[in-house]
Amino acid sequence: MAKEMNGEMDKESLRQLLEKHESEPGALIPILQEIQESFGYLPEEALVFVSEEVGIPLGKIYGVVTFYSQLYLSPRGKNIIRVCHGTACHIGGAERISEAVSEELGVGEGATTEDGEFTVERVACLGCCSLAPCVMVNDETHARLSPRKIKRIVKKYRKTRVD
Ligand code: FES
Repeated sequence: MAKEMNGEMDKESLRQLLEKHESEPGALIPILQEIQESFGYLPEEALVFVSEEVGIPLGKIYGVVTFYSQLYLSPRGKNIIRVCHGTACHIGGAERISEAVSEELGVGEGATTEDGEFTVERVACLGCCSLAPCVMVNDETHARLSPRKIKRIVKKYRKTRVD
C-alpha cells in the first residue's frame, strides 16, 4: 500500500531500511526497489534522504532511476496500459491505437490520468506480433485491435474500477 512521504516517522522507516542494507556493497537498487514498494514510486524527498544518508550524489541516484524502466519518479495509475510500438504493431496501426487511447483518457503515452486510474506506456514488443496491433492492460493482452475496439476495452476497465 502506498504511503505518504512526510514526517519523522517516514524518515525513521527509511533510516531502518538503509541500516538493513548497510553492509551490502552496491545496495542502491534494492534500496530504491523497497522505497518504491512502500510509496508506489520514488518521491524526490526520499531520494534526497538516501543521497544524504548513503553519501551517493543525487545526480547519480537519478541516473540509476532513469536507467531502469522498473523504477518510477511519479505515482502510477491503478491500471497500466502498454501500447506496443514494435515493428509488427507499428505496421498494423499502433499510432492510431495510441491516439484512440489518448482520446479516451485525455493523456498521452508516458502520462497518468488525473484521477490516478490509468498510466499509459509505450513498449517495444509484447511478444504477440502475429496478432498485431496489441495492447496490454495490466496483465491482460488485447490483440488485433482497432481504435474502436481499444476505446471499448479502456471503457470496460474504467467501469470495473468503481471502488
Ligand atoms: S510488435 Fe507488437 S507484439 Fe510484437
